[in-house]
Amino acid sequence: MSQMYKRLEKALACIREKTDMIPKVALVLGSGLEGITDEMEVSAQIPYSGREGMPVSTAPGHTGAFVLGTLEGVPVAVMKGRVHYYEGYSTAETVMGVRLMKMMGAEALMLTNAAGGVNWGFEAGDLMLIRDQICMVPSPLIGENVDELGVRFPDMSEIYSKRFRETVKDAAAEAGVRLKEGVYIQLGGPNYESPSEIRMVRTMGADAVGMSTAAEAIAARHMGLETVGISCISNLACGMSNAPLTHEEVQETANRVSADFRRLVRTSVRMIGGLIG
Ligand code: HPA
Repeated sequence: MSQMYKRLEKALACIREKTDMIPKVALVLGSGLEGITDEMEVSAQIPYSGREGMPVSTAPGHTGAFVLGTLEGVPVAVMKGRVHYYEGYSTAETVMGVRLMKMMGAEALMLTNAAGGVNWGFEAGDLMLIRDQICMVPSPLIGENVDELGVRFPDMSEIYSKRFRETVKDAAAEAGVRLKEGVYIQLGGPNYESPSEIRMVRTMGADAVGMSTAAEAIAARHMGLETVGISCISNLACGMSNAPLTHEEVQETANRVSADFRRLVRTSVRMIGGLIG
């Protein structure tokens, strides 16, 4: 058995001491987007702690806990805050939470984040459905393969499930939320990009840039966990406006659009919960 699987099993055992709930949908909440847990019927809140072998998040605006309960009647496991590569963890460590939610029983994953808009057609406050991704940090699958979870060389031709993307579009229409669509690129951070780097990633085909999500989506696909992703465009990326970028701006925008974001996520979770039966 791989060292990583042993570590995951230990963390799962710690979670199982506190709740035996089996989630259907797993949800990862990005910067400033954590308020949706207020709309849940919470059955357990389990902070990430070193004791369980889970890496602990240090970024401001990231709480760092699993919240289990129901949202719109659907059993969900929510990561309120995540850990990032720039915090000094390996990408394999940053995806432990997503792997754990699958091991808890989740059958679908919704990833969310705050991201910089790279596409000139975007503006701060837009919500973007992730069509595909470019991962510019090391793969979370580097190292001994976790055979219990998936194969050594997993296919990545449909990282974001086509049917779930259609579902989120339907949810946006029902919730009355305007939804853009595009390609997300994960860079390492923690510094924001230079104007030249933003021109580069636009040339590469990216529409939004951030410091999370892509590695998590790779780990999800590796496990056969059907995935969908939504970015909150919290700012236009570096060089696209005159203002310097700050984390406060990112959080402020996320807070400003949080009502729309919550409606979209809630409606999507209900529809995806119905889809997977
Ligand atoms: N760049 C990288 N990550 C981000 C940004 C950005 O402009 N905004 C929010 N997360």
